Amino acid sequence: MTHQPFGVTAEQVAFFQREGYLVLPDFASAEEVAALLARADELLRAFEPSANPSVFSTTKQTETSDEYFLRSANNVSFFLEPGALDAHGQLRVPRHLAVNKIGHALHDLDPVLGPWSRSAKVAALLRALGLARPLPMQSMYLCKPPVHGGVVVPHQDSCFLDTEPDSCHGLWVALEDAGRENGCLWAVPRSHEGGVRGRFVLDEHHKTEWSGGVPPEYPPFGEDSQSGWVPLEAKAGTAVLLHGATVHASAANTSLASRHAYSVHYVDAEATWQPTNWLQRDEDFPAVAL
Ligand code: FE2
Repeated sequence: MTHQPFGVTAEQVAFFQREGYLVLPDFASAEEVAALLARADELLRAFEPSANPSVFSTTKQTETSDEYFLRSANNVSFFLEPGALDAHGQLRVPRHLAVNKIGHALHDLDPVLGPWSRSAKVAALLRALGLARPLPMQSMYLCKPPVHGGVVVPHQDSCFLDTEPDSCHGLWVALEDAGRENGCLWAVPRSHEGGVRGRFVLDEHHKTEWSGGVPPEYPPFGEDSQSGWVPLEAKAGTAVLLHGATVHASAANTSLASRHAYSVHYVDAEATWQPTNWLQRDEDFPAVAL
């Protein structure tokens, strides 16, 4: 897989800084998209559900405190759509309809997704947006399966990936066309100006909780432009950059089309990774900057 160079203009950088997001059509070539999709297909085919019964749901944050979730900082784990398992831990639907996402160390461990996450093209883009030393900390292959794909509620990525100073940048790449009908990203322009509204932290018992005890409040996800949200519809290969404080969400996928995407969150290695973050890498598995 060759990675073609990709340039961003000063106007695009200014748009990102002003609006808190940037949409870049054709960031990933057709060849790259095909390779990333094929790799995910391999991962999904090899997935053994009975060994991974954990279900991840962004609407039920308490479930994220389980050890499976915390360990996924250091491995490649599978998270299922709510309701994908029956009472006996068996899949109720075919696995390609059951998996919500795969994560969170693909950028370091996967032989295809990893090199793409660290490609010169990606590094140049992140440096252009202001990261002095881009450091990938979290990666997710997002399946958003047809009919079963769940909603991702409004949130800010920096809540989950805290550095001092804040430096989280999200790179999300559509591997299939993402439109309103199959759960594209939505964002609130300029919402990053309001700063990060809360932190998802580890307590002294190694359990996750929201700083202040309650999740931050965000503008209701209206799925229409009148409410201040904009749809970030994206053809396959399009990259969406999100400032860490930009409020964003995606709707459930009730269509018959899947919506595969690959997302990597980068911070600046010059900033300090907070010890209260849920994501903590093992000492013998250090995070390495681009
Ligand atoms: Fe996000």
